[in-house]
Amino acid sequence: MALVVKRLTQHIAAEIRGVDLRAPVSEADFQEIQRAFDEHSILVFPDQDITDDQQVAFSKRFGPLETTVNSNPRGAGTVVTILSNLDEDGTVIPPTDRRMVFNTGNQMWHTDSSFKEIPATGSLLSGREVPPEGGETEFASMRAGYDALPKERKAALEGLVCVHDFAYSRGLIDPNLLREQDKRELPPVRQALVRANPSTGRKNLFVGAHASYIDGVDVKESRELIKELNAHVTRPEFVYRHQWRKHDLVMWDNRCALHRGRPWNPIYPRLMHRTTVAGIGRTA
Ligand code: OGA
Ligand code: MN
Repeated sequence: MALVVKRLTQHIAAEIRGVDLRAPVSEADFQEIQRAFDEHSILVFPDQDITDDQQVAFSKRFGPLETTVNSNPRGAGTVVTILSNLDEDGTVIPPTDRRMVFNTGNQMWHTDSSFKEIPATGSLLSGREVPPEGGETEFASMRAGYDALPKERKAALEGLVCVHDFAYSRGLIDPNLLREQDKRELPPVRQALVRANPSTGRKNLFVGAHASYIDGVDVKESRELIKELNAHVTRPEFVYRHQWRKHDLVMWDNRCALHRGRPWNPIYPRLMHRTTVAGIGRTA
Protein backbone atom coordinates (compact mmCIF):
# COMPACT_ATOMS: atom_id res chain seq x y z
CA MET A 1 0.00 0.00 0.00
CA ALA A 2 1.57 3.29 -1.03
CA LEU A 3 0.91 6.39 1.04
CA VAL A 4 -1.00 9.08 -0.85
CA VAL A 5 -1.14 12.69 0.39
CA LYS A 6 -3.81 14.89 -1.20
CA ARG A 7 -4.01 18.60 -0.44
CA LEU A 8 -7.54 19.67 0.54
CA THR A 9 -7.36 23.50 0.39
CA GLN A 10 -4.77 26.01 -0.72
CA HIS A 11 -3.46 26.79 2.76
CA ILE A 12 -4.45 24.02 5.14
CA ALA A 13 -5.29 20.30 5.39
CA ALA A 14 -4.47 17.15 3.45
CA GLU A 15 -6.05 13.73 3.20
CA ILE A 16 -3.90 10.66 3.72
CA ARG A 17 -4.75 7.28 2.24
CA GLY A 18 -2.79 4.08 1.84
CA VAL A 19 -1.98 3.56 5.49
CA ASP A 20 -3.64 1.24 8.01
CA LEU A 21 -3.47 2.66 11.52
CA ARG A 22 -4.59 -0.64 13.08
CA ALA A 23 -1.08 -1.94 12.46
CA PRO A 24 2.32 -0.40 13.26
CA VAL A 25 3.20 2.23 10.63
CA SER A 26 6.58 1.73 8.91
CA GLU A 27 9.30 4.24 9.72
CA ALA A 28 9.33 5.46 6.09
CA ASP A 29 5.56 6.07 6.10
CA PHE A 30 5.76 7.71 9.49
CA GLN A 31 8.43 10.14 8.24
CA GLU A 32 6.21 11.08 5.32
CA ILE A 33 3.23 11.60 7.65
CA GLN A 34 5.35 13.79 9.90
CA ARG A 35 6.46 15.88 6.90
CA ALA A 36 2.85 16.21 5.75
CA PHE A 37 1.85 17.29 9.27
CA ASP A 38 4.46 20.08 9.27
CA GLU A 39 3.39 21.12 5.79
CA HIS A 40 -0.43 20.90 5.90
CA SER A 41 -1.21 21.30 9.65
CA ILE A 42 -4.33 19.11 9.40
CA LEU A 43 -4.26 15.46 8.31
CA VAL A 44 -7.45 13.54 7.55
CA PHE A 45 -7.15 9.73 7.61
CA PRO A 46 -10.45 8.29 6.29
CA ASP A 47 -11.72 4.77 7.07
CA GLN A 48 -9.68 4.11 10.21
CA ASP A 49 -11.82 1.82 12.36
CA ILE A 50 -9.39 1.82 15.28
CA THR A 51 -9.48 0.89 18.95
CA ASP A 52 -8.23 3.20 21.71
CA ASP A 53 -5.03 1.14 22.02
CA GLN A 54 -4.35 1.53 18.28
CA GLN A 55 -5.05 5.26 18.46
CA VAL A 56 -2.73 5.63 21.44
CA ALA A 57 0.04 3.61 19.75
CA PHE A 58 -0.09 5.76 16.60
CA SER A 59 -0.34 9.00 18.57
CA LYS A 60 2.72 8.10 20.67
CA ARG A 61 4.87 7.96 17.53
CA PHE A 62 4.70 11.78 17.59
CA GLY A 63 5.82 12.02 21.22
CA PRO A 64 4.58 11.59 24.80
CA LEU A 65 0.83 12.12 25.30
CA GLU A 66 -0.95 14.56 27.58
CA THR A 67 -3.30 13.23 30.22
CA THR A 68 -6.79 14.70 30.36
CA VAL A 69 -7.76 17.44 32.78
CA ASN A 70 -11.51 17.71 32.68
CA SER A 71 -15.00 16.47 31.93
CA ASN A 72 -13.86 12.96 31.18
CA PRO A 73 -16.36 10.24 32.09
CA ARG A 74 -13.42 7.88 32.59
CA GLY A 75 -11.83 10.25 35.09
CA ALA A 76 -8.66 12.30 34.96
CA GLY A 77 -5.25 10.81 34.28
CA THR A 78 -6.07 8.81 31.17
CA VAL A 79 -4.64 9.65 27.76
CA VAL A 80 -7.94 9.27 25.86
CA THR A 81 -10.42 12.12 26.21
CA ILE A 82 -13.97 11.16 25.36
CA LEU A 83 -16.13 13.85 23.76
CA SER A 84 -19.63 12.54 23.83
CA ASN A 85 -23.22 13.55 24.21
CA LEU A 86 -24.04 10.01 25.32
CA ASP A 87 -24.47 9.00 28.95
CA GLU A 88 -22.91 5.79 30.33
CA ASP A 89 -26.12 3.95 29.45
CA GLY A 90 -26.08 5.26 25.87
CA THR A 91 -28.83 7.88 26.18
CA VAL A 92 -28.28 11.34 24.71
CA ILE A 93 -27.32 13.94 27.40
CA PRO A 94 -29.46 17.11 27.17
CA PRO A 95 -27.59 20.25 25.94
CA THR A 96 -28.37 22.07 29.22
CA ASP A 97 -26.38 19.54 31.30
CA ARG A 98 -23.19 21.06 32.82
CA ARG A 99 -21.01 18.54 30.93
CA MET A 100 -22.48 19.69 27.62
CA VAL A 101 -22.30 23.38 28.52
CA PHE A 102 -18.62 22.85 29.38
CA ASN A 103 -17.99 21.27 25.98
CA THR A 104 -19.57 24.20 24.14
CA GLY A 105 -16.19 25.86 24.85
CA ASN A 106 -14.97 23.71 21.94
CA GLN A 107 -17.22 25.76 19.66
CA MET A 108 -15.03 28.85 20.12
CA TRP A 109 -11.92 29.06 17.91
CA HIS A 110 -9.10 27.70 20.07
CA THR A 111 -5.96 25.65 20.14
CA ASP A 112 -5.74 22.76 22.61
CA SER A 113 -3.85 23.31 25.85
CA SER A 114 -2.61 26.82 25.04
CA PHE A 115 -3.59 27.46 28.69
CA LYS A 116 -0.85 25.06 29.80
CA GLU A 117 2.74 26.20 30.34
CA ILE A 118 3.81 23.79 27.63
CA PRO A 119 1.03 23.80 25.04
CA ALA A 120 0.23 20.65 23.03
CA THR A 121 1.88 19.84 19.70
CA GLY A 122 -1.03 17.98 18.15
CA SER A 123 -4.39 16.35 18.74
CA LEU A 124 -5.88 13.26 17.09
CA LEU A 125 -9.65 12.95 17.01
CA SER A 126 -11.36 9.74 16.01
CA GLY A 127 -15.00 9.90 14.90
CA ARG A 128 -16.65 6.87 16.51
CA GLU A 129 -20.27 8.06 16.11
CA VAL A 130 -20.96 11.09 13.95
CA PRO A 131 -24.21 12.95 13.26
CA PRO A 132 -25.58 12.78 9.70
CA GLU A 133 -25.33 16.57 9.44
CA GLY A 134 -23.73 19.39 11.46
CA GLY A 135 -21.08 18.70 14.10
CA GLU A 136 -18.30 19.59 11.67
CA THR A 137 -14.88 20.66 12.93
CA GLU A 138 -13.33 23.74 11.34
CA PHE A 139 -9.63 24.51 11.21
CA ALA A 140 -7.91 27.85 10.56
CA SER A 141 -4.30 28.37 9.54
CA MET A 142 -2.54 30.83 11.84
CA ARG A 143 0.45 30.42 9.51
CA ALA A 144 -1.38 31.55 6.37
CA GLY A 145 -2.84 34.36 8.48
CA TYR A 146 0.61 35.41 9.59
CA ASP A 147 2.02 35.20 6.05
CA ALA A 148 -0.76 37.52 4.81
CA LEU A 149 0.16 40.32 7.24
CA PRO A 150 2.14 43.31 5.98
CA LYS A 151 5.85 43.33 6.86
CA GLU A 152 5.50 46.22 9.34
CA ARG A 153 2.70 44.45 11.18
CA LYS A 154 4.76 41.29 11.50
CA ALA A 155 7.61 43.33 12.95
CA ALA A 156 5.30 45.05 15.44
CA LEU A 157 3.95 41.71 16.72
CA GLU A 158 7.32 39.96 16.96
CA GLY A 159 8.38 39.31 20.56
CA LEU A 160 5.00 40.05 22.13
CA VAL A 161 3.83 37.69 24.86
CA CYS A 162 0.20 36.76 25.27
CA VAL A 163 -1.33 35.51 28.52
CA HIS A 164 -3.57 32.47 27.99
CA ASP A 165 -6.07 31.58 30.67
CA PHE A 166 -8.60 28.74 30.80
CA ALA A 167 -10.67 30.58 33.43
CA TYR A 168 -10.91 33.54 31.02
CA SER A 169 -12.17 31.48 28.05
CA ARG A 170 -14.60 29.36 30.08
CA GLY A 171 -15.76 32.55 31.84
CA LEU A 172 -16.96 33.78 28.45
CA ILE A 173 -19.52 30.95 28.48
CA ASP A 174 -20.53 31.33 32.13
CA PRO A 175 -18.57 33.10 34.89
CA ASN A 176 -19.59 30.35 37.35
CA LEU A 177 -18.63 27.38 35.20
CA LEU A 178 -15.24 26.79 36.80
CA ARG A 179 -14.84 26.05 40.50
CA GLU A 180 -12.17 27.90 42.52
CA GLN A 181 -10.17 24.67 42.62
CA ASP A 182 -10.17 24.41 38.80
CA LYS A 183 -8.87 27.97 38.57
CA ARG A 184 -6.08 27.29 41.08
CA GLU A 185 -5.01 24.21 39.12
CA LEU A 186 -4.81 26.14 35.85
CA PRO A 187 -3.24 29.55 36.52
CA PRO A 188 -2.67 31.90 33.52
CA VAL A 189 0.42 31.16 31.41
CA ARG A 190 2.63 33.12 28.98
CA GLN A 191 2.82 32.21 25.29
CA ALA A 192 4.65 33.81 22.38
CA LEU A 193 2.25 35.63 20.04
CA VAL A 194 4.43 34.67 17.06
CA ARG A 195 5.84 31.14 16.98
CA ALA A 196 7.94 29.20 14.49
CA ASN A 197 7.77 25.51 13.51
CA PRO A 198 11.04 24.01 14.85
CA SER A 199 11.51 21.80 11.74
CA THR A 200 10.63 24.20 8.95
CA GLY A 201 11.20 27.58 10.63
CA ARG A 202 7.88 28.83 9.27
CA LYS A 203 6.24 31.41 11.50
CA ASN A 204 2.65 31.77 12.64
CA LEU A 205 0.43 33.72 14.99
CA PHE A 206 -0.64 31.95 18.17
CA VAL A 207 -3.98 33.22 19.48
CA GLY A 208 -7.45 31.63 20.05
CA ALA A 209 -10.09 31.74 22.78
CA HIS A 210 -7.76 31.18 25.72
CA ALA A 211 -5.70 34.29 24.78
CA SER A 212 -6.70 36.78 27.48
CA TYR A 213 -4.40 39.78 27.10
CA ILE A 214 -0.98 40.87 25.85
CA ASP A 215 1.70 41.25 28.48
CA GLY A 216 2.49 44.94 29.03
CA VAL A 217 -0.47 46.19 26.97
CA ASP A 218 -3.65 47.64 28.47
CA VAL A 219 -6.24 44.83 28.82
CA LYS A 220 -8.93 46.54 26.75
CA GLU A 221 -6.48 47.39 23.98
CA SER A 222 -5.02 43.84 24.15
CA ARG A 223 -8.44 42.28 23.76
CA GLU A 224 -9.18 44.39 20.72
CA LEU A 225 -5.91 43.28 19.17
CA ILE A 226 -6.53 39.60 20.01
CA LYS A 227 -10.06 39.85 18.60
CA GLU A 228 -8.74 41.36 15.39
CA LEU A 229 -6.05 38.67 15.03
CA ASN A 230 -8.55 35.87 15.74
CA ALA A 231 -10.85 37.30 13.08
CA HIS A 232 -7.96 37.67 10.63
CA VAL A 233 -6.66 34.08 10.89
CA THR A 234 -10.17 32.63 10.64
CA ARG A 235 -11.04 34.37 7.37
CA PRO A 236 -12.72 31.83 5.03
CA GLU A 237 -9.69 31.49 2.76
CA PHE A 238 -7.60 30.19 5.69
CA VAL A 239 -10.21 27.68 6.88
CA TYR A 240 -10.82 24.00 6.19
CA ARG A 241 -14.19 22.63 7.32
CA HIS A 242 -14.24 18.92 8.08
CA GLN A 243 -17.51 17.13 7.58
CA TRP A 244 -17.15 13.95 9.65
CA ARG A 245 -17.64 10.45 8.32
CA LYS A 246 -17.66 7.57 10.77
CA HIS A 247 -14.10 6.30 11.41
CA ASP A 248 -12.32 9.40 10.18
CA LEU A 249 -9.21 10.13 12.22
CA VAL A 250 -8.25 13.80 12.02
CA MET A 251 -4.95 15.07 13.37
CA TRP A 252 -4.21 18.77 13.81
CA ASP A 253 -1.22 20.91 14.64
CA ASN A 254 -2.04 22.91 17.78
CA ARG A 255 1.08 24.98 17.32
CA CYS A 256 -0.18 26.73 14.20
CA ALA A 257 -3.88 26.00 13.65
CA LEU A 258 -7.05 27.00 15.46
CA HIS A 259 -10.10 24.75 15.47
CA ARG A 260 -13.69 24.82 16.60
CA GLY A 261 -16.55 22.33 16.68
CA ARG A 262 -19.86 23.25 15.05
CA PRO A 263 -23.26 22.61 16.59
CA TRP A 264 -25.49 19.74 15.55
CA ASN A 265 -28.99 18.60 16.33
CA PRO A 266 -28.55 17.07 19.81
CA ILE A 267 -30.93 14.22 19.05
CA TYR A 268 -28.01 12.63 17.18
CA PRO A 269 -25.21 10.87 19.05
CA ARG A 270 -21.71 12.24 18.53
CA LEU A 271 -18.87 10.26 20.08
CA MET A 272 -15.27 11.27 19.50
CA HIS A 273 -12.09 9.92 21.13
CA ARG A 274 -9.14 12.28 21.37
CA THR A 275 -5.47 11.77 22.11
CA THR A 276 -3.17 14.76 22.56
CA VAL A 277 0.54 14.89 21.81
CA ALA A 278 2.37 16.96 24.43
CA GLY A 279 4.51 19.94 23.44
CA ILE A 280 8.28 20.00 23.80
CA GLY A 281 8.84 23.27 25.61
CA ARG A 282 7.65 26.69 26.59
CA THR A 283 6.98 29.23 23.85
CA ALA A 284 7.83 32.35 25.86
C1 OGA B 1 -11.22 18.95 20.61
C2 OGA B 1 -12.21 19.85 19.99
C3 OGA B 1 -14.05 19.95 18.45
C4 OGA B 1 -15.04 19.01 17.90
O1 OGA B 1 -11.42 17.72 20.59
O2 OGA B 1 -10.19 19.45 21.09
O3 OGA B 1 -12.09 21.02 20.12
O4 OGA B 1 -15.52 19.27 16.78
N1 OGA B 1 -13.16 19.25 19.28
O5 OGA B 1 -15.36 18.01 18.57
MN1 MN C 1 -10.08 21.48 21.00
